[in-house]
Amino acid sequence: MEKFIINGGETLSGKVKVSGAKNSALKLIAASIMADSKTTLKNIPKIEDVYTMIEVIKTLGARVHMDSEKNILEIDPSSINSYEAPYELVRKMRASVLVAGPLLSKFGRVKLAIPGGCNIGSRGIDMHLKGFEDMGAENIIEHGYIHCRVKGRKSGSRLAGSTINLDFPSRGATENIMMAASLAVGKTIINNAAREPEIVDLANFLISMGVEIEGKGTDCITIYGAKKLCGVEYNVMPDSIEAGTFIAAASLCGRKVEVENAVWKNLEIFCLKLKEIGIDVSSTDENTVVVNASDNQLKPVYISTLPYPGFPTDLQPIIVVLLSIVPGISIVTENVFENRFMYVDELNRMGANIKIDGHHAVIKGTKKLSGAPVRAFDLRAGAAMVLAGLAAEGITEVSDIYHIRRGYEDFEGKLSSIGADIKIAKG
Ligand code: UD1
Repeated sequence: MEKFIINGGETLSGKVKVSGAKNSALKLIAASIMADSKTTLKNIPKIEDVYTMIEVIKTLGARVHMDSEKNILEIDPSSINSYEAPYELVRKMRASVLVAGPLLSKFGRVKLAIPGGCNIGSRGIDMHLKGFEDMGAENIIEHGYIHCRVKGRKSGSRLAGSTINLDFPSRGATENIMMAASLAVGKTIINNAAREPEIVDLANFLISMGVEIEGKGTDCITIYGAKKLCGVEYNVMPDSIEAGTFIAAASLCGRKVEVENAVWKNLEIFCLKLKEIGIDVSSTDENTVVVNASDNQLKPVYISTLPYPGFPTDLQPIIVVLLSIVPGISIVTENVFENRFMYVDELNRMGANIKIDGHHAVIKGTKKLSGAPVRAFDLRAGAAMVLAGLAAEGITEVSDIYHIRRGYEDFEGKLSSIGADIKIAKG
């Protein structure tokens, strides 16, 4: 087991570059299995969740080659001969369920392990399954697996386009249904669809493979199923949550930090909240965000997480760390996941003063955090603990950092390059 040892209080400055987006790369890898030929994905982040998704499609029979030097992943799906996403992998990474749409679309069947809850909530997949049913699939649950097939027809049958109304703009359900619709017969309309930039990236990828899609980035997406899809070469978009993490680190302990591959329009609500707090944050061009930390008076704020274009839930723990040292009372409301304040007790052990009341965090700004041994509860909460350690007085040890490895490429290397004192230790 590895942990981070952080000596807090160093000033951060310089340039740091953001990697490809985890939450796009995973979907593009899943979608690539629908092609009849090889796909090349560039700007693939070297993170554990990507390696897990590679394992998932290898289990299905795909041939995969990763060029780690160049962050390029090649996927040849022509040898796929299994339709099962096994429990070991789904349990490890919930996003493994995103191979269901592509498998069902291309092969008419999938056997999918039912994901359990996770550290941030119960996270059902009912909307994914309902969408498949609306398109003519039947779902049978047996022994912890869902057997999903195109209903009552011969092998090789395809899903049928349909109109699907989502109860909530779930990203995963929108993506799984978009992929399921890609080789379905006819037109599928998804109402109340998610609008995140990663959904647009997936739509662009599917379009380049041969699918016709209207309304990407809106809450009504129309997909016209294609007869076949071809492999393509595609660049994964930059990761806005990683970008937001570095922007927050710079806000907490920076002088002047330039975050490259940080797309302003994807981070707008986050950056506007930082401005409201009093942080000097701006963009030099559409792909670079600059934080000029100064002695500005910082003010408390109210924040509510919401699906895009609202404040992203994945940046909630990150901004709570910043608010923990902003004078006055801030309130952060979590609307997407029911259990996403688990890390707050750890932050309070570092001197923060945060009370949880239902899905609200009431944060009374403290003067200084002080280093302590803390745990990474999940991916983003883990990154938040690292930021707390950077801002704190003394030494912070963050354990269970395998959570952080799921979504940040060379986190400690990138932070060190802008002046953080962060090391790896065993134990
Ligand atoms: C994705 C992101 C995750 C982010 C989240 C919300 C990936 C790999 N992960 O997760 O980082 O935090 O979006 O922005 O892209 N729900 C149901 N039934 C369903 C589907 C969802 O009840 O069928 C609920 C979930 O339990 C959750 C909420 O809807 O409370 C949002 O889930 P969703 O948008 O689907 O998130 P994910 O795609 O799982």
